[in-house]
Amino acid sequence: MNFLIISLMSSLVLATQDSGYPAGFFADCPGMNRTTTLSDETKDSLSVVLIWPTRTLFGNSQATCKLSISGAACVARHLDFKKRKTMIFISGYLDASFSPLVRFIVSPYLKRGRNIIIVETFPVLLRSYPLAARLTKPIGNILGEFLAELTHRGMSPNKLELVGGSLGAHIASRAAVKYHYLTHKKPARLTGLDPAGPCFRNLPPSERFNPTAAQRVDALHTNMDVFGIADTVAQVDFYANGGEYQPAIAGNFLLPCFVPCSHIRAAFYWLYATSNTDKFIALRCDSVFHARRGDCYDGHIETNVLGPKTNFSRPGIYYLPIKAEKPFYFGEEGLVRKSFGLTNYLLNAVSDENLII
Ligand SMILES: *[C@@H]1O[C@H](CO)[C@@H](O)[C@H](O)[C@H]1NC(C)=O
Ligand SMILES: *[C@@H]1O[C@H](CO)[C@@H](O)[C@H](O)[C@H]1NC(C)=O
Repeated sequence: MNFLIISLMSSLVLATQDSGYPAGFFADCPGMNRTTTLSDETKDSLSVVLIWPTRTLFGNSQATCKLSISGAACVARHLDFKKRKTMIFISGYLDASFSPLVRFIVSPYLKRGRNIIIVETFPVLLRSYPLAARLTKPIGNILGEFLAELTHRGMSPNKLELVGGSLGAHIASRAAVKYHYLTHKKPARLTGLDPAGPCFRNLPPSERFNPTAAQRVDALHTNMDVFGIADTVAQVDFYANGGEYQPAIAGNFLLPCFVPCSHIRAAFYWLYATSNTDKFIALRCDSVFHARRGDCYDGHIETNVLGPKTNFSRPGIYYLPIKAEKPFYFGEEGLVRKSFGLTNYLLNAVSDENLII
């Protein structure tokens, strides 16, 4: 009898074994709550790269200025804030102003006649990742002061847009918050390309990419459980292909697009969305849970579009169907549920039947 009770109890224990809630990759990091201060030497090393459209044979001009109050004077000498809107681009961990991807991303903005300011994050973030994560706050504050100074020199907040990738998204958001504190105005738009999750998952909204930091805030999630973040962090949150893994095809063979590939895809989707402004159509979902599975096709379909034309009067969580091949968008075709669901493209290759191989 006793034996029976004991074995019953132990099997109950096994049956209810708690494997915990998935915390995500590197949910917490040391000292994210603490102050991180830049030395004068580190501050002096910060710079921005300016690119602006010109009528010369070569199209664009380029200059480098310091990311500081005095650097703002240097910027104001080169850029026309009255005539042109300004786009600030902040790349993520271990990416640099000269990387081809960064150059690709800013090119559609240049074509539309924008001033471009690329924050040179590479040298300062070239440290271990948890240290780089802590640096997003002081760098963001310096960038915010710099942008406020540019506003004193004629740059309207309504003509200011910030785009940040990965860790750069948190820098951009912090800069927007600091800018608001100093000018009492918010930048027109803030976009996060797979805002970084590691070290940020459990921080309060005020300490990370934040939906109130700018007039309009959007985020594109492409690798949310590893390098990105699963929580909604914007006014409009797009979960591309469900938000975690991105589809890929090489030849006729399915090659997975795993962690780094999926994270970087955010930049590619943004690149294509800025030149195909009506094509990246996304569907409204009830929750991130539904967005993960692309389970957003029941009842009334409400849409939004990734890119310059996002409708911020329709805030919420959106599932963005994604094709494996460039240019990645589905357009209207994506408004019809795919038979196997788009979220798990690897499962598409296998049928749920007995197999002889
Ligand atoms: C931040 O501080 C809170 C309490 O103030 C603490 O519970 C939390 O663990 C800290 N997080 C990190 C990452 O240090
Ligand atoms: C944006 O969404 C609102 C609310 O659904 C709608 O009334 C408006 O027409 C939309 N704007 C555009 C340009 O589609």
